[in-house]
Amino acid sequence: MVNTSVQLSTMHLDNPVIPASGTFGFGYEFAELYDINVLGSISMKGTTREPRFGNPTPRIAECTAGLINSVGLQNPGIDKVIEHEIPELSKYYTKPVIANISGFAIDEYVECCEKADKVDKIGMIELNISCPNVHNGGMSFGTSAESAYEVTKAVRAVTSKPLFVKLTPNAPSIAEIAVACEKAGADGVSLINTLLGMRIDLKTRKPVIANVKGGFSGPAVFPVALRMVYEVYEAVNIPIMGMGGVSSAADVIEMMLAGATAVQVGAANLKDPYACKNIIDELPIEMAKLGIENLSDIIGGAH
Ligand code: SIN
Repeated sequence: MVNTSVQLSTMHLDNPVIPASGTFGFGYEFAELYDINVLGSISMKGTTREPRFGNPTPRIAECTAGLINSVGLQNPGIDKVIEHEIPELSKYYTKPVIANISGFAIDEYVECCEKADKVDKIGMIELNISCPNVHNGGMSFGTSAESAYEVTKAVRAVTSKPLFVKLTPNAPSIAEIAVACEKAGADGVSLINTLLGMRIDLKTRKPVIANVKGGFSGPAVFPVALRMVYEVYEAVNIPIMGMGGVSSAADVIEMMLAGATAVQVGAANLKDPYACKNIIDELPIEMAKLGIENLSDIIGGAH
C-alpha cells in the first residue's frame, strides 16, 4: 500500500492533486459527476473585490495540445463567494479549500484577503498576481520583483493563513519573483499561470480572441512549467505548487521530482471533467510501478 499524502504548509493533503483555479468553478458544480472529496484540495475561481462579468467573447481559442483563454476574471465578487459559493461547496466537500484572490490594486488584494482570512473553510490563500487577461492589475504585479514584494507584504500583514503567490511565466525571471515573494513573507509559490499567446482566424484574418491575446495552457506547456518549477525550487526555501499542462499521474510525479509539493491540474479539466479523479486513481498504480512508497519522499528528487 503506497502513501500519497503530502504536507503543504499547514494543510495535510490525502494526495497532492488539486484542480487549478479557473478550470473547476467553485467545485460543487463537479459534485454531480463524482465524489469530489477524493481531491487533495480545490483552488476556487479567481475572486476579486467587485463582481466581474469578464472579457467580451470569443474568449477561447483551440490550439495544438492546449488552448488560449481570455476569461477576464469572471466571478461574483468576494462577498458572494463567502456568502454563497463556499457554503454551497461545503455541502459536498469536507476538506479545506484554497481561495484564489485576484485584483487590480494593492488595497483590493488586501481587502479580499482580510475577508478570506475570517473564513474557516479557507485553508490557504493563493494570491494571483499572474492573470494575463486584465489591464492595470493581475499579471502586472507579477512581472516585477518590486511590485510582487509590495503586494505580498501588504497581504501578509492581514492574514495568518498560509499564503501562496501564483506566479506568471511571462516575467523576465520567475525565480527572481519567487525570491521577492519569499522575502515578503509568502509561505509558498504556485507556478505557472498561463503563457501569453494568440491565434488568428485565417478566414477573417483577425485575432480569434476578442481581447486579441490570452493565456495559453495545456499539455504543450508542461516542459516549460517543469523547467520553471525546477528553477524556482533551487532559488527558494518555501514549498511550490506546480502546474502547467499536467494531465496524468506520471506528470504529477515528474512535477514533484522537479520540486513541487502539490500539483494543480488545469486545462485537463476542461477536456475531461473526470481528469483529476482519473489522475488520483492512477497515482498509486504509477507509484507502485516506479517503486515509490511515500510520495512526499520524491519532492525535489531530480536535483
Ligand atoms: C482569467 O479569468 O482570465 C484567467 C485567470 C488567470 O489566468 O489567472
